[in-house]
Amino acid sequence: MSVSAMSRRLCLAVAATVLAAMPAGAAPGDASLPHIVKTNGKTALMVDGAPYLILGAQANNSSNYIPQLPKVWPALKDIHANTLEIPVAWEQIEPEEGKFDFTYVDELVRQARDNDVRLVLLWFGTWKNTSPNYAPAWVKLDNKRFPRMTKKDGTLSYCLSPMERTTLEADKKAFVALMTHLKAIDGDRHTVIMIQPQNESGTYGSVRDYSPKANKVFAGQVPQALLKKKGIAKGGTWSEVFGKNADEYFHAWHIASYINEVAAAGRKVYDLPMYVNAALREPLVEVGPETYSSGGPTHNVIDIYQAAAPAIDIIAPDIYKRDSKNYEAVLDLYTRHDNPLFVPETGSDTEFARYIFSVFGRGGIGFAPFGIDYTGYTNYPLGGRDITPEGLKPFREKYAVFAPMAREWAKLAFENTVWGVAEADDRKPQTIDLGGKWKADIVYGEWQFGQTDWKWLGTFDPVPGREKPNGGVVVAQLSEDEFLLTGVHARVNFGLGPKNKGKNLIFDRVEQGHFDKGQWVVDFVWNGDQTDYGLNLIGQPAILKVKLATY
Ligand code: DGJ
Repeated sequence: MSVSAMSRRLCLAVAATVLAAMPAGAAPGDASLPHIVKTNGKTALMVDGAPYLILGAQANNSSNYIPQLPKVWPALKDIHANTLEIPVAWEQIEPEEGKFDFTYVDELVRQARDNDVRLVLLWFGTWKNTSPNYAPAWVKLDNKRFPRMTKKDGTLSYCLSPMERTTLEADKKAFVALMTHLKAIDGDRHTVIMIQPQNESGTYGSVRDYSPKANKVFAGQVPQALLKKKGIAKGGTWSEVFGKNADEYFHAWHIASYINEVAAAGRKVYDLPMYVNAALREPLVEVGPETYSSGGPTHNVIDIYQAAAPAIDIIAPDIYKRDSKNYEAVLDLYTRHDNPLFVPETGSDTEFARYIFSVFGRGGIGFAPFGIDYTGYTNYPLGGRDITPEGLKPFREKYAVFAPMAREWAKLAFENTVWGVAEADDRKPQTIDLGGKWKADIVYGEWQFGQTDWKWLGTFDPVPGREKPNGGVVVAQLSEDEFLLTGVHARVNFGLGPKNKGKNLIFDRVEQGHFDKGQWVVDFVWNGDQTDYGLNLIGQPAILKVKLATY
């Protein structure tokens, strides 16, 4: 659909008051701690009193040492990231039992401030990709004091048992020491805005702990809190209540309870928001727990984690599937009225960057590709292989769109209705239903002008840089007929919804602008060629405010 041009007086740099004013950014000394607010199924991560959007980047696993840090910040800067997710390992803060060393944490926080970046700290403790490799040697080498799980055949699992109080107490003590230290060095600045206690918990190769001690608990009753969450009236043993799912649910319950106790103890001294991340279960096909990390926060046990771990605000997916069907399916599974969407890890390759529009269009609080630093390490083929300024372009161009309005977008997503789409693998147009009066058709692969099917013009070049799907759009409703719109590599054709049946659409006005302390400032007005062939978000990053009308 094309919309005919309409002339209007150009109005340059006029401030419109579409959005309420909000604080511009971090205010050192602000008393209110970062926290999650949930209202009417919508969520905001509040930082310094206003919704915050995590334009994140996660460093590589072994970048958590002071000599590595100078190779981290430039990569974040290159993609316009505002938040670094980075490990703090148990082995590095408590190499000897009871002796804590926070040199790295202090330096990390200092450098983050210098680089104007917020931090999400990843506590690599009892579980890091399920294993205890990041636990100090005095823990991971002492099977007697810190027992590993027993597999069904009686052999030893690599994984520490979640049933062991000694292990829990040791992890908790170290975590509380970390949170106590953070409060002391950052309680008034909030450089650290969120914590991930443990990393991809669960176990590969054993659905649960089959030690005699665990078996005894397994033969006992399912806890009341879990029965209540599941809406099950009649109690019983795990097998009686959950049948074939009993082993996995038992393991999930005990890992979640363990993480909860660690997190709750940390929050008691310093109450920062906390989330857990999941190594995923297949989202579209039924598979058994022996094929994934059993007991981790996979989508089938979200409710178990919620019941066992009230100290955890968010259950978050780490998404490394490149294809759009699986990716969108995972987002659907983790976007729930009782679970805010946050993607703390995703692949660093081209195909992954487009999904930022799917995440923020679902009201997600943040998005972070993994392995973003210039240490020379890449996790290809899971992620990208070209972690250089050039290779990171797919993320840079998308973060460039959101960076200048990160606070405003977070507020819109919390208070208004928002939508978003990422270009699918079939590269076909997509339609967004904008609430009945209007719709938007999103088309990919067009130039800024005209249409690629204009045969009468002969042959012309395809749009460059489109070897892989890389487009996407987000839309926020400002009023009945007004929308804020941005995106990349996409054309947006507004159309009439069923409530406008029989009418004709015309742009009242299309403004390109920016936000200044929460106020919309018009830079210039789009019309003529710039609106006759849809709204093309193809060249420079552009934020548009569109007012639609009928005649
Ligand atoms: C997911 C884990 O959470 C990360 O720490 C890292 O190991 C990536 N997988 C793979 O690079």
